[in-house]
Amino acid sequence: MDTSRFPLIPGTQPILVTNSEGVWLEAAGGRRILDAGGGAIVTNIGHGRPEIVEVAAKALGQLDYVVPVFATESRVALVDEVCDNWLPDPSWRCVFVSGGSESIDAAIRVAQLHHVACGRPERHKVIGRDVSYHGATIGALAVGSHDRRRKGLELALPTMPKTSHHDAEQLEKIIEVEGAHTISAFVGEPVIGAAAGAYVPPDDYWPKISEICALHDILLIADEVMTGFGRLGTAMGHQALNFTPDIIAAGKGLGGGYVPIGGVYTRADVVEPIGETDLALMFYTFAGHDLSCAVAGKVLEILREENLVERAAKMGVLLRERLDDEFREHPNVEEVRGRGLLQGLGLLADRATGEPFPRSVAFADKVTSVALEHGAWIYPSGSGVFDDAIMFGPPFVVEEDHIDQMVTIARQAIDVAAASLS
Ligand SMILES: Cc1ncc(COP(=O)(O)O)c(C=O)c1O
Repeated sequence: MDTSRFPLIPGTQPILVTNSEGVWLEAAGGRRILDAGGGAIVTNIGHGRPEIVEVAAKALGQLDYVVPVFATESRVALVDEVCDNWLPDPSWRCVFVSGGSESIDAAIRVAQLHHVACGRPERHKVIGRDVSYHGATIGALAVGSHDRRRKGLELALPTMPKTSHHDAEQLEKIIEVEGAHTISAFVGEPVIGAAAGAYVPPDDYWPKISEICALHDILLIADEVMTGFGRLGTAMGHQALNFTPDIIAAGKGLGGGYVPIGGVYTRADVVEPIGETDLALMFYTFAGHDLSCAVAGKVLEILREENLVERAAKMGVLLRERLDDEFREHPNVEEVRGRGLLQGLGLLADRATGEPFPRSVAFADKVTSVALEHGAWIYPSGSGVFDDAIMFGPPFVVEEDHIDQMVTIARQAIDVAAASLS
């Protein structure tokens, strides 16, 4: 098949993927690629599950498009499944959308409309963190700080205050400068993914952020698009980091990679005041598509019935041990970091001096392409002070020998990429 017209912006030729099963992708010609990145940290129950195909066929046989304000059996069942098994409390409310960026945008709108409905219309700013990624809509880019992904768009983005990704006390200072009465929400990833290669903040960071937000009536939005639905070895990522947010945005693993879906989840008292006004919480046309909800319901059932969240915790420990053993002393690895099955390596030119690779080298991308040649897909990441990182986020069904293979390939890829520069 000729793929030359496929990329929007002409450049390198993409790999043509033709099949997938378990932890494997198959490319044209039969070449197998180990999915160590779980796509974009998405695939959790593994590829090619026949039960999902059955559910999808049945759902499409019964219904196609139904406007999001109507209930369908699959939508109602997914609300029940998520509220009963995945959220901090069954009394929480949810709405499903089509992906991660959209869930962040919707979470920001819920936070602001909450304050407006409560008579505080001047609360319109959302505080983000100085290293973060929340998606590619204008709103999500504005509250995020992934410098490579914002580049060229800066002037088009509303300016939002930013605080430290590791020093919780700094939030107090930002609130003082901005004025608490102007702030609707704080948004952060429990473990920072694409922007920082699985950075985990100090233990007291999230409890302290939570305390500061509560003190100033600022809604705490946890961006669990990557960390939600079992990735960190807990139902939701905030549990692993010891805090409870007011609003959660989560997508990716919710659909297991089989369907595009995300969601916004919040305490009832956050949305109740909005319901008492004429304020519109507008949906997207394809929000909570019935097919996506049917499939997501099955993905979550599989996660629970096969104890895959516990497995993510167990295999995460194993992956971490192997990464520590392999890279503890590696000259181009600054740090092994992460939680559960979201693990990363910080990369740099010289561990001894702390010198980074020049940005022009795009070292993490180089490592990823060498790893692909060696048979594994590893997720390139990093921005700002975390420039150059790679992440591992395999399906939770990953086996020990797959972990050995991905660590070995990562080692070869880093060595080959570094040697090519010297
Ligand atoms: C933490 C986080 N938030 C939001 C997003 C945006 O999600 P999507 O790409 O599904 O729109 C991502 C995507 O990588 C993410 O990692």
